[in-house]
Amino acid sequence: MSTIAIATTKEVFDLIREDLLAIEQEFARACGADVAPIREMAAYLREGGGKRIRPALLLLAAHALAYKGRSAVHLGAVVEMIHTATLVHDDIIDEADTRRGRPSANKTWGNARCVLTGDWLYMQAFHMALEERNFRILDLLIRLTQQMVEGELVQMDLLGRAIGEQEYYDLIYRKTACLFQISMQLGGVLAGATPEVEAQLGEYGRNLGLAFQIVDDVLDLTADEDVLGKPVASDLREGKATLAVVHALQHGSREERAAIQQVLEDRSFARVGHARILEILRHNGSLDFAMRAAYGYADVARAAVAALPDSEDKRAVLWAPDVVVAREK
Ligand code: IPE
Ligand code: IPE
Ligand code: MG
Ligand code: MG
Repeated sequence: MSTIAIATTKEVFDLIREDLLAIEQEFARACGADVAPIREMAAYLREGGGKRIRPALLLLAAHALAYKGRSAVHLGAVVEMIHTATLVHDDIIDEADTRRGRPSANKTWGNARCVLTGDWLYMQAFHMALEERNFRILDLLIRLTQQMVEGELVQMDLLGRAIGEQEYYDLIYRKTACLFQISMQLGGVLAGATPEVEAQLGEYGRNLGLAFQIVDDVLDLTADEDVLGKPVASDLREGKATLAVVHALQHGSREERAAIQQVLEDRSFARVGHARILEILRHNGSLDFAMRAAYGYADVARAAVAALPDSEDKRAVLWAPDVVVAREK
């Protein structure tokens, strides 16, 4: 049984600070397109910041297995660019006007330009991945991208519907947890992990990603837009039932269920207000239910990597689930 303590935020950033800076440089270089509109939009997207959690996970996974080469930085930039491309397309689909506390790219440049810039970013990321000359890496990244696109399409078909937990989990696996899983697995692939260890890393990433999206969905219901940096209460306005809402739809009174269904169908709070929905969720313990689920997945994530050799990097891997569930943005 391991006795190593969980790392602090500062310790974690000290471990990967240089590599994260190198990833920023790589990302910036990769956005140096010949075509001015792409250069401009890509720079805007990159400079918007973001938590960089996916490349951080890739770095930690590689380091935890004592990997020393440059490819972790290279692939860290790749996963962040794929993430960026999905956000550009997601904001078009969701008609979101803010992202990372600033106007979203679609708000500034319009949908048509942003679709194309998203496509360009995907292809640039794959071009970089190709430089690794490793079919396994390409296989993981291609299947990942298909899962994410499928997730967005499945989500569209479920809009306005009172979905069940199984549908919810299938969806958040595709749209979010899969990228966390692959980021961890790529760290393992670079370090020459055995299939068993690669699977443990992937299992960690998958569970952490599920916890991450559950929290994201709770924050959509409860957070302040200034803190979150993107629209709040947007899921219900878009007709999306997330875990707390799914719970209330199963446990609420007939009147409460009808109120939620009304918002999902209207895709607006015109007839039933946001405050009323929050009251229903609190009354049924639905927000606590969702947070408990997130804590549960965070625990499963930690348990999945219990057998990794003890190291500073492993401590950092064990630390991430706490940060993910406690986050405010
Ligand atoms: C946003 O991801 C998309 C979701 C999966 C909820 P992040 O919350 O990691 O976004 P940034 O990169 O930090 O802005
Ligand atoms: C997650 O979906 C976005 C992707 C994985 C592309 P959401 O629509 O819930 O994410 P936010 O809330 O816009 O960041
Ligand atoms: Mg969105
Ligand atoms: Mg979306």
